[in-house]
Amino acid sequence: MAFTTHHLRQWKQQQRPIVVLTAWDWAIAQIIDEAGVDIVLVGDSLAMVALGYANTLPLTLEETLHHTRAVVRGVKQALVVCDLPFLSYQESISQAIHSAGLALKEGGAAAVKLEGGHPAMVETISRLTAIGIPVMGHLGLTPQSIHQLGYRQQGKTEAAQEQILREALALEAAGVFAVVLEHIPSELALDISQKLTIPTIGIGAGKYCDGQVLVTADLLGLTERMPPFAKAYTNLRESIAQAVTTYSQEVRLGKFPE
Ligand code: KIV
Repeated sequence: MAFTTHHLRQWKQQQRPIVVLTAWDWAIAQIIDEAGVDIVLVGDSLAMVALGYANTLPLTLEETLHHTRAVVRGVKQALVVCDLPFLSYQESISQAIHSAGLALKEGGAAAVKLEGGHPAMVETISRLTAIGIPVMGHLGLTPQSIHQLGYRQQGKTEAAQEQILREALALEAAGVFAVVLEHIPSELALDISQKLTIPTIGIGAGKYCDGQVLVTADLLGLTERMPPFAKAYTNLRESIAQAVTTYSQEVRLGKFPE
């Protein structure tokens, strides 16, 4: 059975924590889906972890759709969310409808994620949800605004906290099924999680969110530099380097193939 946005609402009511991981290709998607994650996010972090860009800004919709199709082919159960890349939805409502539509129609995703909660974005999201496109919001540190925000924690002042809360309530009213809260104080994430009926998914937002998301490359120890709030559960960079070194030695010494 494939998970839907309705499951998420139920899980929040049941206080069942929601597990979210990113994926960028078929193999990773298949492994994390079989391991039982609830949501697979084709995050625009694929720009850095799979394509070698310095940040998320250069990623195109074509690249995103290409990776989304690969991920969708690997997933049987989780809800697949496609993160719309920078400048594929900010220009106009019709651009957002077109890009989100392609994410579902050609990418095969079940939902899209858009960053921001200012009034223009809320209007865009209202239109998307009105025509039946499930949307996940993203507030706090929004990496597509890196040149405005940097990678600093957001919501540090009372005014900033009130704004993020206001935006979260506006996104809920616009029909998002969940909202990612990135790099904000945990008390603010708690307050937002208590005030919303939709689930909050935290990353660097403490333990009180309804779910947690990590970039899978960070979890696997594949990234060279990861954010302070991420956690590596293994060190695949080291394991891969070791395996490749052993293989190279065996080939050079005539030990492989036997
Ligand atoms: O692109 C991404 O991986 C994300 C998550 C960190 C939420 O947006």
